Parts: sequence; structure tokens; C-alpha cells
Amino acid sequence: MTAIILAAGQSKRMKSGIPKVAHSILGVPIIKWIVGAVRATGVDRVVIVTGFGASSVESLFQNDVLFVRQEQQLGTGHAVMMAADFIDDEVLVIPGDVPLITGPTLCDLIEDRRTSDSDVSILTFAPEDPAGYGRIVRETDEIRIVEDADLNDSMRDITEVNSSIYAFSGGFLKNSLVKLSCNNAQGEYYLTDIVVHANSVSTVAARDDGEVQGVNDRIQLAKAQRYAQEKINLQHMKDGVTIVDPNTTYIAPGVTIGQDSVIEPCTFILGNTVVGKSCAIGPMSRIVDSEIEDDVSVVRSEVEGAEVGRGAAIGPFSRIRPGTVLERETKIGNFVEVKNSRIGQRSKALHLSYIGDANLGGDVNIGAGTITCNYDGKKKHKTIIEDGAFVGSNTALVAPIKIGEGSVVAAGSTITEDVPPFSLALARSRQVIKTDKYRQKTSGKENEK
Ligand code: UD1
Ligand code: CA
Repeated sequence: MTAIILAAGQSKRMKSGIPKVAHSILGVPIIKWIVGAVRATGVDRVVIVTGFGASSVESLFQNDVLFVRQEQQLGTGHAVMMAADFIDDEVLVIPGDVPLITGPTLCDLIEDRRTSDSDVSILTFAPEDPAGYGRIVRETDEIRIVEDADLNDSMRDITEVNSSIYAFSGGFLKNSLVKLSCNNAQGEYYLTDIVVHANSVSTVAARDDGEVQGVNDRIQLAKAQRYAQEKINLQHMKDGVTIVDPNTTYIAPGVTIGQDSVIEPCTFILGNTVVGKSCAIGPMSRIVDSEIEDDVSVVRSEVEGAEVGRGAAIGPFSRIRPGTVLERETKIGNFVEVKNSRIGQRSKALHLSYIGDANLGGDVNIGAGTITCNYDGKKKHKTIIEDGAFVGSNTALVAPIKIGEGSVVAAGSTITEDVPPFSLALARSRQVIKTDKYRQKTSGKENEK
């Protein structure tokens, strides 16, 4: 069985320089949502028809899907013709702009065609406003699909519409594609016209209209995102996660969150992220592609591409960048940026610091205003700070540099040479005091009074 996904269209209604299917919902490109649902049915092969902005669609995938090009976008029927070489015994056809379709619904459709042994089974639905969709016109012993632009007045009231998702018998599809013409209001080869050539047509009503909503413009894109957001949030709540304000919480598909975690408002948890149990995430936080263990708090902060150990506390206003590992019970505070660094257990950097390309042991204290000077204008260099070291406030650590175990760096130091274990490093000029320099000199007359 092959699935053919139609994604060559120019997406005129999006008014966009990038193809519609490359626009994202909850951080995931539309086309990836569809491929995910298709994979869940267990199809053998996924073929994507690309055209407008083809390379930006193709670059979203590795080698797990096949691509065919439709150089001129002459309609959905024409798009399927481009994939004719891949027609198997059974073919699923899905438009690239119905992102919220699910595996189980596609399985219903496949199953329906098999049991009814029809040439084609069409997934239909009845939206509140059918405008724009092709209508399912049922006549005595024929089913037709009539495009919105080709409707006559009596058909306009039909509420049952075509989702544009079909299960075909491969033989029927192959023989009938050649019969399509472009004799219609839009001058296109409509895939919908293939239905009149079938001996047997069956239909399956979608379980949920939301799943089959098309995304043709940015208003529909926002609606689709809202639907996906609600559905995902609902599932997490059912699974024991508190979401304080589901309307402002954006969680990507595939994210897992442990029981008794609390997600505060205005929070994004995106990409391949795992959040453990009893975490407190948000408000106003964004976590992307990260692994967060149990009992972690992230408040008003950004975390991307990081591993965060049990009991760590991040924020408010921290920025954790890719390649960072925060071991258990670490504390990263306000206006601290950490990049590509390991912070050992119980170590703290609570205020106003930059830690980049560094390796910190356990129980290290980083004073306010500490900067790892990791970049010399050409290369990045490493900073190593061993267990139990204490770095005083407003310190510049000029990498490559090593601060030995248990040593102390005095506040205000600029450290350019390694500090041996258990020693004190002072690298600042001595304070000078000029006594009474600014005391006003008293005049002799005043003394006389
Ligand atoms: C299509 C259906 C309509 C259905 C609706 C459901 C047709 C003629 N109409 O209309 O019956 O109710 O979907 O959402 O099929 N594409 C190509 N090459 C082309 C033209 C389109 O690859 O030459 C792709 C588009 O990128 C898109 C998909 O096919 O992903 C559907 O095309 P679109 O123009 O959005 O069709 P609709 O007008 O929505
Ligand atoms: Ca569409």
C-alpha cells in the first residue's frame, strides 16, 4: 500500500513565499503532521508530490519518503498522475493541507474500502460552513463531487463535503486517471472527477470534523492550531498534568509530561521534549527539544536543547542554550545564560552571568556577574571549574582556563592563568585611599568666631 500526499500547490490563499505545507502548527510543519498520521496506518511507502517551493518541503525529510515533482500545478488529479508509477494494489491519497487527520481515521477509511470492496472510499464530513469545499452530491445511483466553484444553486445547501482523503483500489486509480479532463470552472484536472468513473463508491464520515479541516489561509491555520492545542492539552490533563490556562499553553505532539507537573500560563513546550513528574513549568517559559527530569522548576525562562537533572531550578529570566547539561539540584537564576556547558550537581549561578563552553563540577558557586570569556574572535575555548570552587562576583574567566578544586577566585578578578586546587586567586588592582582628599578646608576666620 502506498500513500500519495499532494503538496505541490502554490497556496495562493496563504499569500506566502513558502509552501503552505511548510507552515507550522505547534512548531511542526503541516506536512510532517500528515506523514505522521500516514505512518501510523502502517503503509509501505509514502510519496509526496512537490512543486511550488519543492526544495523547502523536501529538506524537511531524510530518506524516509519519496518525492515526485509536479512542475506545473494543473490540479489535484494532475498531481496524482505525477505519482502514477508508484500506484500499488491499494493507494491512499491525502492532500498536504489537512494536517490534523489521525492514523485511526485513516485506518477506518482503508478498512471501509476493503470490506465494501469499492473502487474508492471517500472520507466525508459536514462542517458548519461548507463554503469552499467540494460537495458530495448523491443521486439515485451515483455519487459525484462538485467543486465549490462549479456548484449550481440547488447544490449549495448540501452540507456533506469531501475531505479530499481517499482510499483507492490501485487498478481503478491507474485506469481512471487518464480519463480526467480540465473542463471546469478552474480549468484544472480535478481528482474529484474520478469518482464518476467508479463502479462502486463508498463513503466514511469522519469521526471528528476538526481532524479533516483544510488549511488554505492563515485564518484556517490559526483555527487548526487551536484545535490541535485543545486536543493535546486535554489529553495531558486526563493523564494527570495540571494546565492552569489551556488557552495559552502550547504543547507539541509527542511531548510527554509526568504526573502532577503544573504548567503555568503562556508556556510553550515544543519539539522532542520530555518533562518529568512534579515539575513546575512557567509562567512564560519556552522549552524546546529538552529532557527535564522530575521536580524541576522553570520560571519565565527559555530552555533549548538541554538536559536538566532532578530537582534543578531555572529562572526567573534564565536562558539555557543547546548542549547544556544541568545536573541534579543545580540552580540557574535571573539573567544567567548557559550554553554548551555541563553544570555539576548542586552548583549555582544565580545572577547575571554567562557560562559558555564550560565544564563545572559539583557544589560550585558562581558569583553574580561572572563571565566565561570563551571566544577570542576566532575560536571558542573551554573553561573548567572543579568541584567546590567559589568564583567571586564580577569575575572574567579568560578561556582556556582551569579553576582547581576547592579554590577561591576573589571578586572582581580577571583570571588569565590556571588556578591550582585549594588556592586563592586575586587578580585585581589594590585599592588606594587618599585620606581627606575631598574634605572642605575650613578658613581661619571661622575658627575665630
Ligand atoms: C480540495 C478538493 C475539495 C475538497 C477540499 C478539502 C479538489 C479538486 N478539490 O479542494 O473537493 O473539499 O480539497 O480540503 O481536489 N495540489 C497539488 N497540485 C495541484 C493542485 C493542488 O499538489 O496542481 C495540492 C495542494 O498543495 C493541496 C492539495 O493538493 O495540498 C489540495 O489542493 P487545494 O487547492 O487546497 O484544494 P481545495 O480547493 O482545498
Ligand atoms: Ca485545501
